Amino acid sequence: MYSHERIRTVIVDEHDDIARLVAGRIAALIRERAAAGQRAVLGLATGSTPIGIYRELIRLHREEKLSFANVVTFNLDEYYPMDPDSIHSYHRYMWENLFDHIDIDPANVHIPAGSASRDQVNDVCDRYESAIRRAGGIDIQILGIGKTGHIGFNEPGSGVDSRTRLVMLDPVTRKDAAADFYGEENVPREAITMGVATILEAREIAIIATGEHKAVIVRRAVEGDVNHEVAATFLQRHPATTFYVDRAAGAALTRIATPWLLDEV
Ligand code: PGA
Repeated sequence: MYSHERIRTVIVDEHDDIARLVAGRIAALIRERAAAGQRAVLGLATGSTPIGIYRELIRLHREEKLSFANVVTFNLDEYYPMDPDSIHSYHRYMWENLFDHIDIDPANVHIPAGSASRDQVNDVCDRYESAIRRAGGIDIQILGIGKTGHIGFNEPGSGVDSRTRLVMLDPVTRKDAAADFYGEENVPREAITMGVATILEAREIAIIATGEHKAVIVRRAVEGDVNHEVAATFLQRHPATTFYVDRAAGAALTRIATPWLLDEV
């Protein structure tokens, strides 16, 4: 581990390398559990970064007989309010990019209900936490990172003890989503997200970032002090997190940008 880095970080040449590494780890876990007659519990993320992982999992299902029959999934978040059938919903994203193409039992898929009414939403969040506990906890959690440093939709200010809840989206996050919604004014103002504490309970975490627009926040998350202004810094306290970045997203890390500042370790 490099001396400035507080999260184990793997820099790869290409985006596809991340997909192969992370999907390979997920496949190994699923097979290990299936051999023991057990289920694997996956925490899943949306956005542009994990698409390659899902494509690779679909390939492993089609070409290498990887079965998802014993897999349970929990997604990190969903916009609120959001109709599950909307083209903007994370429900729709997950079915189109993964679930429609594998043999998962729909009863084993969990995504926060963006369609819940305001008086039901707290209940929905509590039940989400209980469902994760009942499933035995999350074995591997996949995370992206937003420009604000959010993991899930845990925007600046989210505490280390936060749980699944309704949150306000940061203006930076809404601006980043504007193109998908054909204008910032159409981006929902709120979301339901797993909390930081929920995420930190996963037994293993793979956080991924690609592209130069992520370089500054990657450095902050990996090398900066733990602070609730950047939720991803809390991962420094997790015992089994790996940060996978491509060269562009890793470009501001000390070992790449100013390697002469590295201490011997
Ligand atoms: P992205 O989103 O993968 O679309 O960049 C990451 C995030 O906001 O968590």
